[in-house]
Amino acid sequence: MEQEPVKVEEFEELARRALPKMYYDYFRGGAEDQFTLKENIRAFQRITFQPRILVDVSSINTSTSLLGHMIEAPILVAPTGMHRLAHPEGEVATARAAASCNTIMVLSFTSNCTIEEVAASCDAVRFFQLYVYKRRDIAAELVKRAERHGYKAVVVTGDAPKLGRREADIKNKMVAPRLRNLEGLLSVEVESGGSNLQAFASQTHDDSLSWKDMAWLKSITSLPILIKGVLTAEDARKAVEVGLNGVIVSNHGARQLDYAPASLSVLEEVVEAVAGSVPVLFDGGIRRGTDVFKALALGAKAVMVGRPVVFGLAAKGEQGVRRVVEILKDELELTMALAGCPTIDAISRSHVRTEQERLR
Ligand code: FNR
Repeated sequence: MEQEPVKVEEFEELARRALPKMYYDYFRGGAEDQFTLKENIRAFQRITFQPRILVDVSSINTSTSLLGHMIEAPILVAPTGMHRLAHPEGEVATARAAASCNTIMVLSFTSNCTIEEVAASCDAVRFFQLYVYKRRDIAAELVKRAERHGYKAVVVTGDAPKLGRREADIKNKMVAPRLRNLEGLLSVEVESGGSNLQAFASQTHDDSLSWKDMAWLKSITSLPILIKGVLTAEDARKAVEVGLNGVIVSNHGARQLDYAPASLSVLEEVVEAVAGSVPVLFDGGIRRGTDVFKALALGAKAVMVGRPVVFGLAAKGEQGVRRVVEILKDELELTMALAGCPTIDAISRSHVRTEQERLR
């Protein structure tokens, strides 16, 4: 019998074996030279711990609250597209797994199951990720549907005015299935000779979207809005100025601008710029409970996990996603015990040391 993975990374190999090459490459790849893809991982290796000993850690509590919602651990499911390419049950399986782990799934705009199907599949807090298309009425319509079906926040992705150049998808002539959320709203025929995904995005994404449009976005929903893709203090301040409700430090899993910094390397400056006015979330390269702890120590309120969730789904469906989240949570719990932090609030900046600090 195949051995059960003991760490999250091992799901990738199982997914590789389970998936057609075109889909595996789509899920794992980054943009161009994939420099940022490697950096997202390496950045965690440059942070070490300053653990405290002789702290009573007989009871560890990983729970926390985000925008008023209690979650079992500060580990969310990041929005990733097209889960039916990973598993026939698609986002419904992912949502059920997230719900059973008492955490929040951010449903991607480019999901294969609809907003409604995912909402009906389980009773849990869910957020909806939005791409703004040239056809602004589509954003308004989808946000309204998400709101009507009980999604609790909108995550607007700000780092994809155009799609990054993912060369594996171009070589594989990646063909994406139709986006079910857009049925009856939009029909675009693309024929590219390369990645149909990229061709589709270049026709649909609104590359004129700017900070001033955030007022429009606020006008179409009463849900809190988080902006995803912030990598500078300057943009973090703008997000607060225009009245957004949260900032997500992310480089889109290194799939957009190659040579963008590792998300972890800019987390602290964003946290400082925001100065506690709104929560700061983080994603990019989370593969271990120690990674979660490091991001929290640098000021993130919670982290989101992208590829490992999709690989868990491809390898073992709903149960695979559940295992991925559970393993990360168990590792976080152990890290907290060994670092001397019985609660999430006890995790502080003084529990980690950056490379610069070590060299001083
Ligand atoms: C993504 N990401 C993404 N982001 C987004 O805002 N909308 C989307 O539809 C998608 N789709 C998507 C598909 C796939 C296959 C991947 C790998 C990523 C980015 C995602 O939300 C997140 O930022 C990264 O995945 C985080 O990095 P890790 O955890 O994959 O290292």
